[in-house]
Amino acid sequence: LSAADKANVKLAFCKIGGQAEEYGADALERMFTTYPQTKTYFPHFDLGKGSAQVKGHGKKVAAALVEAANNIDDIAGALSKLSDLHAQKLRVDPVNFKLLGQCFLVVVATRNPSLLTPEVHASLDKFLCAVGTVLTAKYR
Ligand code: HEM
Repeated sequence: LSAADKANVKLAFCKIGGQAEEYGADALERMFTTYPQTKTYFPHFDLGKGSAQVKGHGKKVAAALVEAANNIDDIAGALSKLSDLHAQKLRVDPVNFKLLGQCFLVVVATRNPSLLTPEVHASLDKFLCAVGTVLTAKYR
């Protein structure tokens, strides 16, 4: 990510602010609906519309994204434990991170269209890819 990308990502999360949790939940709900194969990782969750479990998980995902944005020069360090979890324990197929990233972008577009200029879109896309790369870096 360039200096401009980093600034765009920080600006975007600053504007999303306290709504990040809802963005996270919406992105998950969208991912489960649009790409039903992603549901296979959550057999123990109630995935119905408005599920409290999905909301709670959206909050955790959002917090991790905010943490990564706040530590954008060391995303690998900031998400190290999550990287262990996703790669070594959950073994989520890397393709799924692209799907969740796309869904998150669509949520930003629908909830805050003026925020998602082409430049911010490009920077957020790079950022979400970087997060996905970190979370899938420890397969062995
Ligand atoms: C758990 C973040 C992508 C599947 C988690 C947790 C966080 C997180 C914060 C909770 C960890 C804990 O409780 O200590 C993220 C982020 C992602 C991402 C930031 C990408 C932007 C994915 C994808 C999948 C996935 C794409 C699969 C489609 C899971 C599962 C759990 C989990 C199954 C455990 C849920 C549970 O039993 O509570 N993730 N995740 N994650 N994640 Fe992810």
